[in-house]
Amino acid sequence: MKLKSIFAAGALALGAISANAAVDEAKMNAFIDELMGKMTLEEKLGQLNLPASDDIVTGEAKNSNIGERVAKGQVGGVFNIKGAAKIRDLQRVAVEESRLGIPLIFGMDVIHGYQTVFPIPLALSCSWDMDAIEKSARIAAKEASASGIAWTFSPMVDISRDPRWGRMSEGNGEDPYLGSEIAKAMVKGYQGDLTADDEIMACVKHFALYGAPEAGRDYNTVDMSRGRMFNEYFAPYKAAVEAGAGSVMTSFNTVDGIPATGNHWLLTELLRDKWGFDGFVVTDYTAIAEMIDHGMGDLQDVSALALKAGTDMDMVADGFLGTLGKSLAEGKVSQADIDLAVRRILEAKYRLGLFDNPYKYADPKREATELYTPENRAEARRIAAETFVLLKNEGDILPLKKQGKIAVVGPLGNTRANMPGTWSVAADFDRYKSLYEGIKDAVGNKAEVVYAKGSNLESDPVLEANATMFGREMRDPRSEEELLAEALATVADADVIVAAMGESSEYSGESSSRTELELPATQRRLMEALLATGKPVVMLNFSGRPTVMSWEAETVPAILNVWFGGSEAADAIADVVFGDVNPSGRLTATMPRSIGQVPIYYNHLNTGRPLAADAKGFVKFRSNYLDVPNTPLYPFGYGLGYTTFEYSPVRLSANTLTGDGSLTATVTVKNTGSREGTETVQLYIRDLVGSVSRPVKELKGFERITLAPGESRDVTFTVTPEMLKFYNFNLDFVNEPGDFDLMVGPNSAEVSTARFTLK
Ligand code: BGC
Repeated sequence: MKLKSIFAAGALALGAISANAAVDEAKMNAFIDELMGKMTLEEKLGQLNLPASDDIVTGEAKNSNIGERVAKGQVGGVFNIKGAAKIRDLQRVAVEESRLGIPLIFGMDVIHGYQTVFPIPLALSCSWDMDAIEKSARIAAKEASASGIAWTFSPMVDISRDPRWGRMSEGNGEDPYLGSEIAKAMVKGYQGDLTADDEIMACVKHFALYGAPEAGRDYNTVDMSRGRMFNEYFAPYKAAVEAGAGSVMTSFNTVDGIPATGNHWLLTELLRDKWGFDGFVVTDYTAIAEMIDHGMGDLQDVSALALKAGTDMDMVADGFLGTLGKSLAEGKVSQADIDLAVRRILEAKYRLGLFDNPYKYADPKREATELYTPENRAEARRIAAETFVLLKNEGDILPLKKQGKIAVVGPLGNTRANMPGTWSVAADFDRYKSLYEGIKDAVGNKAEVVYAKGSNLESDPVLEANATMFGREMRDPRSEEELLAEALATVADADVIVAAMGESSEYSGESSSRTELELPATQRRLMEALLATGKPVVMLNFSGRPTVMSWEAETVPAILNVWFGGSEAADAIADVVFGDVNPSGRLTATMPRSIGQVPIYYNHLNTGRPLAADAKGFVKFRSNYLDVPNTPLYPFGYGLGYTTFEYSPVRLSANTLTGDGSLTATVTVKNTGSREGTETVQLYIRDLVGSVSRPVKELKGFERITLAPGESRDVTFTVTPEMLKFYNFNLDFVNEPGDFDLMVGPNSAEVSTARFTLK
């Protein structure tokens, strides 16, 4: 059988699988056995090779550098090529010009949408809306697949408690339970059952623990106890694997002293043997070569280490293709090691239906009609509005009325490029609206809207340039004084000021760590001047992480945290600012009072010298700070809306829980305000005595409910022994009988408590 003939004219011949049926494993194995029987060593190593490429010209793929390598069978997949035409072109080289015609797998960082961009993942998590999150992944998959993408490097599920780390923007905050629910929703949204041509393979990343770098500095050392890994950090990766994610990406950091990419315990003993993962493992960008700098040997050593650890595909480092042949000859790796990895890559391609139809994922017709559609944009707008977190609303300044003169001021007030957020890989910035444009459209001719920038993002142009690489912001060449004077003139006869402040989109994301999280000095000066006018000021805080807003919380009457809201952010912000949508976002990462409190998170251990809950100020010889309270500025789970909710005390159906039984916990929630609103009711538990010290609170459930004014509803959670399990010192996942506190409330700090006993 000459494989190429399978693809001739797209014909489905020679027993190739049907793309729309569940995979017949026996058939797949026979197909792969036969194929591997024909492959040379170089062709096998080629399958393990994943270069990046954005350098091909449509119609010229064959003559490009990447095309030549593909034709020689040296490439298994390619990422970062944008557009169905280019992808088809390069796929044709693989299928028609390479000896065996094995199709390429095309990947991309489709992290929060494709051309229709959804809010950054941290923002999405604040919706606590699993249907919305799944939907966002579904739409991303539909759009990306039309452009040829079969594989997305998402979901990123790294737990992080350190907002200095810019990549908090890409994850789901600090909680392992919520993170796991989101991981499942994302995998489901991308993959479905991985049969249709708009269902793409997910890649869970970054395995593992990437969100806990020392000092919040990207790529830095991670070192933590196994107990913490299992109880606090691993759950979302495991959940994504159990949801069927087809691939896993290694992280750059060390795990227990060994870089993840070369860590056999992590990639084989845990991921495959314990969790049952049967997809393939790809490295992060050049992660194999980076093990040289980690001090693990030369390129040949580290490539062999990676393969033997359980890594299957080498992203960009050329370590596998370049050195595994030599290692095989020298007995440092075996043919079986190589074959296992090759088989996993071929299996993934087979399951995706690429042997059946290599062009399955690149459909110029779909690409022309199904991207950035009004329907997709409407979903993105609706979902974005759910992610904003109202932190403060003194005197009910918000929602604003569509009347009078509204001044939009601030460095984020009239930029289109900064709306979608980091990793908007397929964004078409010119088509999106700036905030100023969104506000103008929202009010139509009912109000006058004016704008002034007021300040640059930073006083220091070098710092601003570093944080706005990719040219996403134009620095205003005028002096700070000129910008400020213009702003004050602009607001002079305004009725209300909407101050668009904070970070630009590239302040967060990869390689964007910060040691200061307060508003930069130049923006603070602008804010002070705006407040000094005595006019009502609403602050929109753009950020890719929790920022430090202690000063703002004291001085600014209304603060709405809008993160980076995707392509429809401007309209969505207007929807909330003018009250067409009642804000319902709840924080998924603690907002500190001071950077010195970091890492700060709600599910911490108690210590042997906890500060009493009713302590007034500093207490000597207790665990606290001289200069700042222990409490956060805004706790995990927190967020306001334009209505109010009242909670009854929690009621338990029983005070004991046994064996495989269950009990229920019920609260009555009432909308006590004057408009409809959505509340996220949160369930926490505390295990009061354990064989290892247990956190003061752990999220175990949540429910979003929408209530009309005056309406009450009972919300009931079922508690089972399974939910109370944890990893003990021996890393066994166990129940330990004893007393538990069960807490229900609107956020992690305001709860009503009831006690029960697990027998
Ligand atoms: C990032 C990954 C990403 C990869 C490919 C790396 O630098 O850490 O998250 O998937 O690049 O673009």
